[in-house]
Formats: sequence, C-alpha cells, structure tokens
Amino acid sequence: MKFFVDTADTAEIQDLAATGLLDGVTTNPSLIAKSGRDFMEVTKEICGMVDGPVSAEVVALDHETMLKEADVLRKIADNVCIKVPLTIDGLKTCKALTGEGTMVNVTLCFSANQALLAAKAGATFISPFIGRHDDNGFDGMELIEDIRLIYDNYDFSTEILAASIRHPVHVLESARIGADVATMPPAVIRGLFKHVLTDKGIEGFLADWQKTGQAILK
Ligand code: E4P
Repeated sequence: MKFFVDTADTAEIQDLAATGLLDGVTTNPSLIAKSGRDFMEVTKEICGMVDGPVSAEVVALDHETMLKEADVLRKIADNVCIKVPLTIDGLKTCKALTGEGTMVNVTLCFSANQALLAAKAGATFISPFIGRHDDNGFDGMELIEDIRLIYDNYDFSTEILAASIRHPVHVLESARIGADVATMPPAVIRGLFKHVLTDKGIEGFLADWQKTGQAILK
C-alpha cells in the first residue's frame, strides 16, 4: 500500500518524507487555504520534496476552464497529478488529460458507480472519501470494498486512493480490502507507528540495559 500525506504544510511533508515511507502528497483548496501560502509556490516546493505524485486541484467547474487550469498546474513539475471533482465536466477533463499522459486524481467520490465512471474515464486515482461518508451515516469501508470488487471484475488499472481518513483503523481496514493508496493527515501517519506496548517494551529493555553497565558505542 502506498502512503500519501494529505496536507500542504511543507514542514510536515519534509519531516515525514525523511522516514523514507512517503510515496506522495495530496492537497485540496481547503488545505492550501490552511497553509496560507501561494498555491503555485507551495505546490512547486512540495513537488521537490517527494518523487511520487503531488495532487493539485482545479477549481473551475466547466471542462474548458478546468483544462486551462490543469495546463498551468501540470507545468509546475513532472510529478503533478491533476485533481478534478467527480462531475461530468471533471470526468471529461480526466479523459482528455490522461489521454495526453497526465496523471489525474478524481476526487469527491461517494459511490461505487461514480468510481466506475472515473475508471472508464481513465483516472489514475479515484479518491473515495471514507470519513465524510461515515460522518453522513454511510459505511465508508463498504464503499472501498465495492470499488475494489468492481475494479477487479473489469481489470481496471485506476488505483483506489482511500481519502478522508480519520484514524489508523481506517488505514488498517483499507489495507485489508486492498486499497492501493491511503492519503492521511500527518497525525494519522504518526499514529501508525505507535503502540503502548512498544513504548513499554523499550522502557523495560533500557532499564535492564543500564544495569549491565555496558555501552555499544565506546
Ligand atoms: C483527499 O485527497 C482529500 O484532500 C482529503 O482526504 C479530504 O479529507 P477531509 O474529509 O478530512 O477533508
């Protein structure tokens, strides 16, 4: 499973990229606003921090303007992945861009039928929003399961990018189902490393090690 971080905070990206476990970044207009940075400038900086895809979202609602915006965004760097909303215009744009070899992440997916359409439009990634799905009384994991089944039935190469992840259990369940990618807020990625018994174990080993009076580095 690939790990993307869902943020436009470059300090966080830098820190997580240093683990060697980060495969890409996703941003959206809300995350750009939260960063307080210029969209083009921060996106360029992020693209230089990771080798993998960096999703940058168009804000136009019509196909023609989406294409124009995508054209500006894809010139930022080779690893820019254009993010389009799951609308008719968004999918028209997706088809045109992937036809030209540009990576596309289709975002705001809330149904398996929408995911089927995105795959037919040649999407590189489909982003089902698990957390927002759960928030509204639906089962986000059922959505991921349905999309996995449908994509496997027809051998679609579109990667399932589990998005709107709120906690480590979302990551675990997405991995069990076989989502290709999980995009997570920095705190969730850090949470994956944690276990109370790991901390307790280290504490015990160090206490016993001190009793030996030895040192590995002389
Ligand atoms: C995905 O690409 C989106 O940016 C993101 O996962 C949305 O998450 P939210 O529901 O926490 O805003």
